[in-house]
Amino acid sequence: MTLSSRPKIELHLHLEGAAPPAFIRGLAQEKRIDISKIFDDRGNYRFADFGDFLRVYEAATSVLTTPRDYARLVTAVLEQSAAHGVVYCETFLSPDFCGGRDLGAWREYLHAMTEAAAAAETAEGIVLRGIVTPIRHFGPEKARQTAFCAAETAGAFIVGLGIGGDEMSGHPKDFAWGFDMAREAGLHLTAHAGEWGGPQSVQDVLDHLKVTRIGHGVRAIEDLALVDRLAEKGIVLEVCPGSNIALGVYPSWRDHPIEKLRERGVKVTVSTDDPPFFHTTMTHEYDRLAETFGWEEEIFTEVEQTALAAAFCDEPTRKAIAKKLEQP
Ligand code: ADE
Ligand code: ZN
Repeated sequence: MTLSSRPKIELHLHLEGAAPPAFIRGLAQEKRIDISKIFDDRGNYRFADFGDFLRVYEAATSVLTTPRDYARLVTAVLEQSAAHGVVYCETFLSPDFCGGRDLGAWREYLHAMTEAAAAAETAEGIVLRGIVTPIRHFGPEKARQTAFCAAETAGAFIVGLGIGGDEMSGHPKDFAWGFDMAREAGLHLTAHAGEWGGPQSVQDVLDHLKVTRIGHGVRAIEDLALVDRLAEKGIVLEVCPGSNIALGVYPSWRDHPIEKLRERGVKVTVSTDDPPFFHTTMTHEYDRLAETFGWEEEIFTEVEQTALAAAFCDEPTRKAIAKKLEQP
């Protein structure tokens, strides 16, 4: 089996961040919105650093204005993911972008997206679940409203809450209210941390948001006592090495700590984060991991089984995905 055709699980993918640039350009043209400055000469997204990336991300997202746009986006993204062998994917969805945190509007966006996801499941066999994402730099009040949308729509499709955005903005305790509400609604919890912030930032989301998974989490490596705590508690890291390298968290694949974390007993999984922004795919991530750290069948299987166990879906779905992973 090639790395490209290997059945994969992706737990950390931002839906708007997965939008192919041509898809966003097409919508911008249809709606006569000028966002040409976010593209380079070759038509790829252009950004200088993380702050700029967030601005370009939000500019690209500004052309997605209706439930139908989001349904088309789900179709385009899942087609792409399925082509790289992804059989189960969890995507970050934001009521901030889908209806401005209005619950009625959010339900309409959600309806359109779940229909598109069900069609892709039938056509391509790929299963999608959603994690509602408050955006940290939008502040605690908006995060509260976002978490309320999540709690009200928790179910078979919306399975989690996971804060994203600028990790250096505010403190996790400012967002605890929304996480408590989501937990009570039966949602699973994750948070971006240890991407731009150091070990303390990782410890803070564990203490204040009580998450079971962490988006990135890689900078935990700077405190080995924390690494050991992550391993002991079975906290799962949604590691996105290509994203970290593209954004300059680490200078090269060689310098990335995924293998050190894994060797020390931390549960790691592999995802792309925002694939076209970072010129990556799940196949590319797998290829680089094989090339850089000598990962073979056994380690890829271990990482996929970690992802399967850590997926936020219900048990019947987990069983069905387990079968798909077994397929040659
Ligand atoms: N939103 C999209 N990509 C992100 C990243 N890498 N970190 C934080 N928020 C994000
Ligand atoms: Zn992310």
